[in-house]
Amino acid sequence: MIYPIVVYGSPVLRQETVEIDRSYPELSKLIEDMFDTMYNADGIGLAAPQIGLSIRLFVIDADALAEDFPECKGFKKAFINPQIIEESDDLESYSEGCLSLPGISETVKRPSKIRIKYLNENFELCEDVYEHFQARVVQHEYDHLQGHVFIDHISPIRRQMNKSKLSNMAKGKVRCHYRVKLQK
Ligand code: NI
Repeated sequence: MIYPIVVYGSPVLRQETVEIDRSYPELSKLIEDMFDTMYNADGIGLAAPQIGLSIRLFVIDADALAEDFPECKGFKKAFINPQIIEESDDLESYSEGCLSLPGISETVKRPSKIRIKYLNENFELCEDVYEHFQARVVQHEYDHLQGHVFIDHISPIRRQMNKSKLSNMAKGKVRCHYRVKLQK
């Protein structure tokens, strides 16, 4: 099932999410649907709040970018109840976009390396270190679970430049190639 993607201006994107456990109903179906929703929108990551669910879950498949970012080869995963436990002092800047903010892309500075603990889709505890573009995608999705979006990281001037796009979005005036909704 393809979900509509919740856009900027929807309160659920600003809420802190809650952890889930094995009893969460039809979790494997939900994860599969999140991948399908992400592929349908040509995304490389999708967090549960982006389909209106305030839970600690995101999916990533960045394999399509492996040509430019070799570390992304085969990088397809679901992250349940993730926790970033280390971040490098070293920062990197790169352009980002988000399925919940169609038509906006801005340069964001983030730690170049992180260590993260999470459960995989079988509820096995994992701990991974990610660098460069992998680390960026993980941090972008992780932000969604904290009620943040990537433009929170940009300068007030850059935010000002996007002001009309953002206010239109928050009124539900969005045009893009996948189905979106403003969830009030
Ligand atoms: Ni996003």
